[in-house]
Amino acid sequence: MSETLIGQAAEILRKNDLGDYTVPTHGLYPFQWNWDSCLTALGQAHFDEARAWTEIETLFAHQWEDGMVPHIVFHKEDEGYFPGPDVWGTGRPVPTTGITQPPVAGFAVLRLFQRAKDRELAERKARALLPKINAWHEWFYRCRDPQDTGLVAVIHPWETGRDNSIDWDEAFERVPTDGVPPFTRRDTQHANPDHRPTQAQYERYIWLVQKFRSLEWDNTKLHNASPFRIVDPGFNGILQRSCNDLAILAESLGDAAIAAASKKRTARGIAAMEALWDARLGQYKCYDRVADTLIDSPSVAGILASIAPIPIERKAAIAKRIETLTESAPYLVPSHDPTDPRFDGLRYWRGPVWLIVNYMISDGLRLGGQPHIADRIDQSSLELIEKSGFAEYYDPATAEPCGGTTFTWTAAMVIEILAGSDRAAA
Ligand code: DGY
Repeated sequence: MSETLIGQAAEILRKNDLGDYTVPTHGLYPFQWNWDSCLTALGQAHFDEARAWTEIETLFAHQWEDGMVPHIVFHKEDEGYFPGPDVWGTGRPVPTTGITQPPVAGFAVLRLFQRAKDRELAERKARALLPKINAWHEWFYRCRDPQDTGLVAVIHPWETGRDNSIDWDEAFERVPTDGVPPFTRRDTQHANPDHRPTQAQYERYIWLVQKFRSLEWDNTKLHNASPFRIVDPGFNGILQRSCNDLAILAESLGDAAIAAASKKRTARGIAAMEALWDARLGQYKCYDRVADTLIDSPSVAGILASIAPIPIERKAAIAKRIETLTESAPYLVPSHDPTDPRFDGLRYWRGPVWLIVNYMISDGLRLGGQPHIADRIDQSSLELIEKSGFAEYYDPATAEPCGGTTFTWTAAMVIEILAGSDRAAA
């Protein structure tokens, strides 16, 4: 069974491979997405290590001079996606968006490096990527944590990848829609509109893009100018894990300065995360930096934070929290607590299960001495695939496949779950 699934997954990776980058799926997402690519490389490495390094190299070839790595690289024109390069107007030689995405590169690159069979190639590629990833991490703390709190904020929901999470509902009320011209969405032509964000949310997404564009994408201004500034524990947890992993990589490659700076960032971030912990729920919560308040929304962000080297007792509490979720969600891990009346099992990040999130939570919990719940999450991931194929996301109650089909990072995660037995070794 696993050989067949690995074969099917590898076939999807090949089908979506455009040479030196991979599209998440044809049609709905016709360009290179940042965290998609880094997680995709983990799957590619199982059958072609050189190709996996190229995936990440291509992304970093479009890093901005200030250190930011953009969320989409528009390698070629495609009318089938909105908002395209003309809306972003970032003025890059190869157009990109002007916001970023969850920084999984440090985590992915250490994993590629540690398991590489071609050591010479791995050392060369990792050595070239090390300062670039470090520059991205530096950028985060410089531009998205101007008050030096140890935690970074996102300024657009698309940065988290969790575009329409219930976490943003109240904060999004502050984002106006005036001045947004009429536009035609393309996503709802490729996927079921009931599985996608609403029109009202899209208007606010575009207002934020226009606002940042009016500031000429100057990252010294964007954080304070955005009416949407959220400290997301999942996003910060990913950044802390990547800093932790970059320190390990830097030590292996003999770069003491990057190792020390990365360790410091990890330790500060993890200490600062304590302010987001909700002892009653047994998970972290988002913090609204504009309203200066914790956001009362039991989403997967506060569970995903377990990817970071947070204290062992926090991991144990999160494992218990996931046990509780099994009472309302036959398939793990829902992106929002199904007992919350705002939950929607089909609509993008308001309830559905995502395999990349499952993979990262399982990895963090396994490293934190919770193998039992990590195994249950892996098992759920595989059940979803067997029942519903390689979809973008799934209803946690029925396993109904949602969003795009033949999805790249879903396939990559399946290969990792089935063949990446060393994956919790960092
Ligand atoms: C989309 O287009 O749906 C993406 O999530 C934005 O990155």
